[in-house]
Amino acid sequence: MKFTASHILSIAQFERADIEYIFQVADQMRPYAHRQKLTRVLDGAILGNLFFEPSTRTRISFGSAFNLLGGEVRETTGLSNSALAKGESLKDTARVLSGYSDVIAMRHPDNGSVSEFASASRVPVVNGGDGSNEHPTQALLDLYTIQSELTSQKRSIDRLRIAMIGDLRFGRTVHSLCHLLCLFDKVKVVLISPSELQMPESIVEMMKEAGHQVVVSDQLESNISDVDIVYSTRIQEERFATQQEADLYRGRFRLNQQIYTKYCQPNTVIMHPLPRDSRLSANELDVDLDANPNLAIFRQADNGVVVRMALFALILDVVDQVDAHARPVNWYTPGR
Ligand code: CP
Repeated sequence: MKFTASHILSIAQFERADIEYIFQVADQMRPYAHRQKLTRVLDGAILGNLFFEPSTRTRISFGSAFNLLGGEVRETTGLSNSALAKGESLKDTARVLSGYSDVIAMRHPDNGSVSEFASASRVPVVNGGDGSNEHPTQALLDLYTIQSELTSQKRSIDRLRIAMIGDLRFGRTVHSLCHLLCLFDKVKVVLISPSELQMPESIVEMMKEAGHQVVVSDQLESNISDVDIVYSTRIQEERFATQQEADLYRGRFRLNQQIYTKYCQPNTVIMHPLPRDSRLSANELDVDLDANPNLAIFRQADNGVVVRMALFALILDVVDQVDAHARPVNWYTPGR
């Protein structure tokens, strides 16, 4: 695809060569994300960061990525804090806010809302999650993490074996990740969920048409022994009609060190888009895994910055200028 001035709305817009190029640019961003050097290539540019649904990682990493490239960030958070609460349409909001920004990142609770917004925007729009539909930048950082974790084990994304666990019906990160895996060869995907929260049939069919092996199950332990990656997800309680309905599924699949040691291969990588639900009633990824070197969840979250820096550099067409604007950092940050 041509990245310059493009919206990033869905994984469906990418081809495999695009993904490989994004990851190459993300690698170029690592010294800047790790504060080994500075660049001000986006000096004067403004990111409109519009989050109409709760977020920690996506909102802050979009903002950090833009700041690390030298740009500034203007934010609005929560529907009730915007004029959408007064009846303004998404398209009017887009017409106005695109006059204030060079690029916009947006999250919204409704499926298709970010595309609707983008259709009226005068600047590129990046989807930070639209309802249960898609979360394309999360899928990109997930796959970047998978590639980086597998490379250290001399394995590749082709022939990947991955188990996706939890709320596969409403989990937009796994929807986008499945789309992305369709660009690769001979993947085995094990889909573990309560039967009521299974992966949408259209996505299962798409993966089969891509030639992938798909296993659907409601059993955790017997299905995690033969995979490279276990990708756990949270019950998306905000998508259920009532809290009581979400409570039916919370805590159904719990991964802890004892289960990992008994059922997983010793080098199985553990991923989760986060937030993990650490309440006792859920505890889908126990904190006793935190000392496990194969727990990649925080490396995964860190990768959100380099992947989003890469997307901004590509969309705003500054990839070739990033290093020309580089200079040393002035400060010392412990732990880097
Ligand atoms: N993974 C993710 O989307 O996290 P946030 O909801 O904190 O942005």
